[in-house]
Amino acid sequence: MNEPRRVEHQLTDKGYVPVYTTAVVEQPWSRYSRTDHEVWATLFARQQEVLAGRASEEFLRQQRAMGMSAGRIPKFDELNPVLRKATGWELIGVEGLLPELTFFEHLANRRFPVTWWIRKPEQLDYLSEPDLFHDLFGHVPLLMNPVFADYMAAYGRGGVKAHGIGPEALVNLTRLYWYTVEFGLIREAGGLRIYGSGIVSSKGESVHCLESAAPNRIGFDLERIMRTRYRIDTFQKTYFVIDSYEQLMQATSPDFTPIYARLAELDSFPAGSVQPGDVVIQRGSGEGWLDDGDV
Ligand code: PHE
Ligand code: CO
Repeated sequence: MNEPRRVEHQLTDKGYVPVYTTAVVEQPWSRYSRTDHEVWATLFARQQEVLAGRASEEFLRQQRAMGMSAGRIPKFDELNPVLRKATGWELIGVEGLLPELTFFEHLANRRFPVTWWIRKPEQLDYLSEPDLFHDLFGHVPLLMNPVFADYMAAYGRGGVKAHGIGPEALVNLTRLYWYTVEFGLIREAGGLRIYGSGIVSSKGESVHCLESAAPNRIGFDLERIMRTRYRIDTFQKTYFVIDSYEQLMQATSPDFTPIYARLAELDSFPAGSVQPGDVVIQRGSGEGWLDDGDV
């Protein structure tokens, strides 16, 4: 095991650019500062309050089952036996963003990479890259759910395959991850709820995604999602809604190879557009949207 570094986006003459690192590191738990633990405690307490009645009941239930709490930064070594027993997944420590193929291979083998370091106090509300809070608080509870756990491993295998097919296939697959794992909504008995980690770990977006009139909320549709562009630095303009984790698993189980071939001939959709055939749950007002195009 290597001494962990804190690998963050680097400021260059092209703005902030991601830096990739493949090392797997032991969580340097005894080296977290008081401030690190306080950042965790503050974010944890704040999100618990926001997520009551907003997060998927399954997310909240599994979060309790895992035994994470505000008190201190959890130890991966304490969470791993619980997670392994539930679904065969385990957490591994990483220093920052992984190259795509490395990331897919970990997921395919039920290893979830968690950034070991936590954001600074001045970054409580927004950080442009994953940190410990996003990875652990946001992603890990649903890995305790057997169906979602299988979905994530299938995604990893699908990623290895798409990587072999080519960059366009990878773009299609990455959009699926974005609009489900990171920014997905689910319809539950209590109404629309959040399950996407990018939302769950953000106070502002947790409220925005459910309560704002601005964004579209549209029923899950695999190929529609694979064609939809997204921005990583603003609230999403469109959220896709699943009816159940089983639906997600079933809709993504066919071989994507012919789908990638078909989509290669078709245009992509702007993030905020509504398309013919969409099951529109809410048509967004578009209020406050920047008109500077989607990536
Ligand atoms: N069925 C997909 C494929 O053939 C794999 C996959 C499963 C991708 C689940 C994402 C989620 O590529
Ligand atoms: Co994430």
